[in-house]
Amino acid sequence: MPRKLVVANWKMHGNLSANRQLLEAYIQKLKPLENVDIVVCVPYPYLAQAQSLLAGTSIAWGAQNLSKDLVGAYTGEVSVGMLQDFGATHVIVGHSERATAYCESDENIATKFMQAKSHGLTPILCVGETLIEREAGVMEMVVAKQIDTIINTYGASMFANAVVAYEPIWAIGSGLAATPEQAQNMHEFIRGRIAAHDESAANSLKILYGGSVNSQNAVQLFVMQDIDGGLIGRGSLTAEEFEGICRAAN
Ligand code: 13P
Repeated sequence: MPRKLVVANWKMHGNLSANRQLLEAYIQKLKPLENVDIVVCVPYPYLAQAQSLLAGTSIAWGAQNLSKDLVGAYTGEVSVGMLQDFGATHVIVGHSERATAYCESDENIATKFMQAKSHGLTPILCVGETLIEREAGVMEMVVAKQIDTIINTYGASMFANAVVAYEPIWAIGSGLAATPEQAQNMHEFIRGRIAAHDESAANSLKILYGGSVNSQNAVQLFVMQDIDGGLIGRGSLTAEEFEGICRAAN
């Protein structure tokens, strides 16, 4: 069975002293877990802090967004090269909280994915449907469009060794996670969609589930065939809860 991957997405939480406490607790509690890969995606200003505390540990760090451009007059943006300067190995792209609040198109998200991938960072592409879309039965169509934009623009080989996170919007922060079967069905659909173009890329891709994962429901989700780990919001903000989730994956 391939190693699981658990990614913490702190979103806009934290400050220097709280982060230090949390990261030190992560280091101590997660150290014995040798069969799971762990990444923490921090707000931009704390990348240097993550680097200085996590370098030399088994926990990697990353960012929650990046610019689609490499350099230039783009006020407020952060480039892939800047993330690499601080040792980031992963970057979340297309999180629904950004896509809706900042009107990110599938095309922009695809470009960000390509920039990360082609510069050696592992992109974590977030996809997922709203509750209305699920109730209308069009969730696969919605997710297919997000995936296909990348396939059609840059080719399915972009997904080799990358990460997709299936995050149904209705499950994020709601306390109502998808059932293991709902998640498994969508993960299988995503892998199949990519495999139709590039089977080896699809097999090397990790597909994470995100949305109200906690230490109680993590095992049932992670045992599913196509669920390769989790993208964790609230559950990553306390070391005890995050440890429980990482243990489930381990
Ligand atoms: P929660 O775990 O808080 O539901 O958030 C999920 C998420 O959006 C991770 O990116």
